[in-house]
Order: sequence, then structure tokens, then C-alpha cells
Amino acid sequence: MSPVIVDTPRDLVIVSNRGPLSFRIADDGSLHAQRGGGGLVSALGPAVAGSGAMWIAGALSDADRQAAAAGVVEADGFQVRSLVIDADDYRAYYDVVSSGALWFVHHRLYDSARRPRFDRYWRRAWDSYRRVNAAFARVVVDEAPAGAIVLVQDYHLTLLGSELAAERPDLTPVHFHHTPFGGPDDLRILPDDVGVELLAGLADHAACGFQAPRWAAAFEACCAELLGRSACPTFVSPAAVEVSEIAKVAASEACTAALADLDRQVGDRRLVVRVDRIELSKNLLRGFLAFEELLGEQPQWRERVVFAAFVYPSREGLPEYLAYRQEVEGLVRRINQTWGTPTWTPILYDDTDDFPRSVAGLRRYDVLVVNPVRDGLNLVAKEGPLVNERDGVLALSRESGAWSELGTAALGLNPFDVTATSDVLHRALTMDGPERRHHARAVRALAGSRAPADWVADQVRAATST
Ligand code: G6P
Repeated sequence: MSPVIVDTPRDLVIVSNRGPLSFRIADDGSLHAQRGGGGLVSALGPAVAGSGAMWIAGALSDADRQAAAAGVVEADGFQVRSLVIDADDYRAYYDVVSSGALWFVHHRLYDSARRPRFDRYWRRAWDSYRRVNAAFARVVVDEAPAGAIVLVQDYHLTLLGSELAAERPDLTPVHFHHTPFGGPDDLRILPDDVGVELLAGLADHAACGFQAPRWAAAFEACCAELLGRSACPTFVSPAAVEVSEIAKVAASEACTAALADLDRQVGDRRLVVRVDRIELSKNLLRGFLAFEELLGEQPQWRERVVFAAFVYPSREGLPEYLAYRQEVEGLVRRINQTWGTPTWTPILYDDTDDFPRSVAGLRRYDVLVVNPVRDGLNLVAKEGPLVNERDGVLALSRESGAWSELGTAALGLNPFDVTATSDVLHRALTMDGPERRHHARAVRALAGSRAPADWVADQVRAATST
């Protein structure tokens, strides 16, 4: 089955920080395009491939900047226009404001006795954020076809709505927020004027979309309480997995070889799997602690179960992420030293960014743990059930956006409660065959009920119905 191409009545422009292509310079100096990383691209890419859309994205590396100098690149039936941004401005906009503040606010990650500190240095970073948003807006203003629908993606680019409304009223900009949205108490953490500017930037779009009803409600509440005006129309449209794409990876030689390797390591033991960026919101620490509690409280699982964690580094420019990674790795080492035996390593920790390898884990799991403290959606919760071959059980955080779609079938967990998570693992591991089959079928049906094209179509519909 090939991906369905989204049908759009008007020209389509997509704007995102990370683009569909990233470039690398080969030894002979030539430029090569490869697919950009990240959840946003894997959700959007297949749906707009072949649509002729213009995709405006930041040039993130030296190779990207060289490609940008060469102009518009045509790929997969859309046109990529990369925007070169001053390196210092980019760092402040991406590391300090987008990843270091907005991500923390929307995911409630602050250790509030110490952080955040909105000082003069931060205010300069906020100015960079505004400049970078203005630069993205300028490209749209200069290059978007008359009357186009502009799909602006995520928290990096919240301010485009106001700029486009002022300069190109013929365009219809729709914003889609991939992350959770903080409530009024969360947004109140930001400097007052920043919170207001951010909310106004979003509310000036023709519509704002979210992955789950609770994030849309939080945005509406913020507009009412902090902005003193109603939000623009909102819509809820969870991102989806392109089944044919992930099935292709699952059927690849690389994935099959990785599965054979995993089989060799796990043998006839039960397998718990997680696949995540090494990311504070993903709650890796409590996941491993819950596994340890399982080994402590339910001795029958010692030597009989393996936890394979396919995790990959992310945002290493931020000290919080480096410290978190060290803490995670230290915990894994300690648990393996405490419980491991000469023939059994309880946690297999793999931090190579290898998608076929992760998909092998998804094919093979008996239990998939998705326990974020808060997550916009979590696409892995859908990818896993769609490729799993063992009637595996999905243990899913109630704080993930995916819970609103899959919660009727998945085993729910409170991500803060280590003991309860450990109990859920035990329950998942002890389910009998018929119950597992029933569970896996129900989760799979929900996970595959929408395609990426439906998700993009919802964003286009939000533009045409305003
Ligand atoms: C995840 C989030 C997206 C976000 C992306 C940014 O995929 O779900 O909301 O756009 O991370 O990640 P990056 O690696 O670009 O910081």
C-alpha cells in the first residue's frame, strides 16, 4: 500500500524548525540529502510527499547551510526551502528558549527550586526567538503563493500568526502544536509579557490544532485567563503512523538481522521494551526503577525477563539532558550489577540511534512500556502495536496524548507511581494467551485507525472552514 497523498484545495506551505531533509557533505565535497530525523518529519513527510507543497525549514548544520545557498531543493514531490539563520541566534532560539524553556513549561519539567531563571541573558535569548520567528515569517511573506494555506508546526514557531496576519492577510495560517500545552499555572511561570506574546502569536492563527482534547482545553484556558480574550478556533487531531512505511522497515534486512540478534540475547525469556529519545519527559528513570521493583517483589521474574531499552541521545547542547543521560546510565549499571547473574543481564541498554533495531524490539516485545510524565502524543505507542508479532501488551502512561485514543484498550499507568508501574508490568507479563490476543487486537485497531494523510487533512480542513 502506498501512502495516501493529502488532497488540498489551495497551495500548501509547511513551516517547521526541522525539515524533511538533512544534508551531509561527502568526502569528495558533494552534498547528499537524507531524511530529516524526529517525530514531526515522520508524521508529516509521507502525507505531503507528492503534493507539490513548499516546505520551509531551518538549515541546521553546515551541510544544510550549503544546500540552502543552492536554493530550493525538489524532493519526494515537495519543494524544500531552507532558511539560514545566524548561528548565535539559532542557539538561543532553539536551545535556550524552545528546548530549554517552552519544552520545560509545556511538559512541566522544571525543578522549580532552581529553574527556571529568567534573567537578562534569557531576555536576550527571547529576542533571538523573536528574530528567528520573524525570519521564518519573512520567507513565508515573500514566497507563499497567493491565498495559500500555511501549516506552521510546533512551539519553535509560535509567533508567526501575528506576523502573517499583519503582512499577508490573503494567507490562512494554521498552527499545530505537537507537544502538550501547559495550563494557565504553567504558562504563568514565563515572564508576563512573554506569556502574553506567545499566546497572542498562537491565537492570531486562523486555527490551532492539538494532539489531544486536554491540550486544546489548556490553550483555551490560557487565552481566557492570561490573554483576556478567547482563543482562535481549536481542533484536535492526533498524528498517525504510515503503516506501509513502518511495515517496510519491519520487513527490511537490517531489521530482520537485528531481530535475530535480539532473539539470541533474550532466548526464551519474556521481553519488556521501550523505544525513546533520552529525554526528561520520557521518564526513563522511573521505568527502570519499576522494573527493579518487579525483580525485588516478584522473584519468579529473576532470570526470566529482560528489559531492552532502545534509546538515543537528544538535545545534548543542554546540560539538563547530559546530566539526565548520566543518571539514566548510572541507574542501569547499578540495577544490572545488583540483579545480574553470569547468564543474565536484566537491562539491555542500547543507545545507538538505529531505527531498524528499534523496530526489531517493537516486533518482539511482550510488554511495551510507554510511561512519559507528560507527552503531546507518543507515536511509539502506535508504532509498537502495529508491528508487534507476539500479542504484546501496551503499558501506557495516562499523561500521554495517545492515552485519549488508546486508553480504552491499553493498560494504563500513573507515570509517577513506581510501585503501580511495577504492578502493571507484572500484570502485563502474567496475562494469559487469549487475554493478550484480545488486548493486542484492540490496541492495534485503534493505533491504525488513522493515517498521516487524515491528520494533515484535518489541518487543511481547519484552514478552509475558517
Ligand atoms: C519531538 C516532539 C516534537 C518536536 C520535536 C523536536 O518529536 O514530539 O514536538 O518538534 O521533538 O525535536 P528536536 O530534536 O528538533 O528538538
